[in-house]
Amino acid sequence: MIIAVDGPAASGKGTLTRKLAEHFNLARLDTGMIYRAVGLKALEIGDPADENVAVEAARSLAFDDLDQAGLRDEAAGKAASQVAAIPAVRDILLKFQRNFATNPPNNKNGPVNGAVLDGRDIGTVVCPDAPYKLFISASSEVRAERRYKELQERGEEAIRSAILRDIIDRDERDRSRTVAPLEPATDAEIIDTSDMDADAVFAAALNFISSQS
Ligand code: C5P
Repeated sequence: MIIAVDGPAASGKGTLTRKLAEHFNLARLDTGMIYRAVGLKALEIGDPADENVAVEAARSLAFDDLDQAGLRDEAAGKAASQVAAIPAVRDILLKFQRNFATNPPNNKNGPVNGAVLDGRDIGTVVCPDAPYKLFISASSEVRAERRYKELQERGEEAIRSAILRDIIDRDERDRSRTVAPLEPATDAEIIDTSDMDADAVFAAALNFISSQS
């Protein structure tokens, strides 16, 4: 079983894929973390928008980089969307993601029944043959508010207007890039979560999956 979940920044993909992974006993890959780790590495080397810098960062990516501190910060998100616009970087990272989808690692319960991946191009590029594709969206204002609350709960300083600006900029970069832009696959189920809580989104996703089985 492979479930592909795409959508813009802070749309709730992480919450949904955690629930799906638990429910169906799947390995889960948040592909944004890979781009964030490359973005942070690129920032250490130089300008993340510079192709040579970004490619060097992508080539040197190691598994351990995926659980370092700071990956969820907005600075990492911005750098991620800069390196993600570079085709050579996406090429390097594609193999890792496809390999995860087709040979998912065991989880804490042992062998899994498949994989759930979330990102921007899972249904369109990474796993175009996935039997279940979801595209999760919400208005930028709702997403900014969710991110604001999340940061507050973590005790981090946050400015609403700056978060909204970052989300709008990042969406624009993700949608307008020439390679693997953010867009729903033609066969994806689109769920607008603006007026839904996490449980309602999960129920809608389960409903779609069972209608396809
Ligand atoms: O999902 P998250 O906000 O963590 O992703 C950070 C950035 O990584 C996105 O804004 C996007 O530019 C990039 N990304 C991507 N393709 C993916 C996952 C993330 O381009 N599959």
